[in-house]
Amino acid sequence: MSIINKIIYNFENNNKLYIGEKVTMSEHMLQTAMLAEKNNSSNSLVCACLLHDYGHFIVDDPDMMVSKSIDANHELIGYDYLKNYFTPAVTEPIKLHVDAKRFLCRDKSYYNQLSTASKTSLKLQGNPMNDEEAKNFQKLKYFNDAIEVRKYDDGGKDPNIKIKNIGDFKELLNSQLIT
Ligand SMILES: [Fe+2]
Repeated sequence: MSIINKIIYNFENNNKLYIGEKVTMSEHMLQTAMLAEKNNSSNSLVCACLLHDYGHFIVDDPDMMVSKSIDANHELIGYDYLKNYFTPAVTEPIKLHVDAKRFLCRDKSYYNQLSTASKTSLKLQGNPMNDEEAKNFQKLKYFNDAIEVRKYDDGGKDPNIKIKNIGDFKELLNSQLIT
């Protein structure tokens, strides 16, 4: 199966709820990508949003045992797998999207508007960055893109909106493959 068909298959067959939220993992990622589209983000950024939590699918897939390490976090598992197929403009923001949350949570008002589940997971993810970590994070090439993914990520949890199908993104996914 091609990587694109595999992604589509996984999206269509995943009914698992996004941790602590009222939408499924698939719905959450589709909504995150829709928010990026709405804000006229680049194709690579929309694609990053669409696949940002793909690591959760990999963890759930028994065929993927080889590519997962028990200790790794979902953003790293997703990155590690997807970087074999997609450009860095797609996969680097995916790798950094949890760190982007840790960066943004330095701002109390950002932290306060997070969902309860997201506040809880922050503790496991290493709490807000310290000054040194934040300074280094800002220097990264994909800093801005990671922040953007993270902001749409926060918004992609609405159980009441009409959501696109993964098939609607097939062309976009194809356009972001390493050639
Ligand atoms: Fe997410």
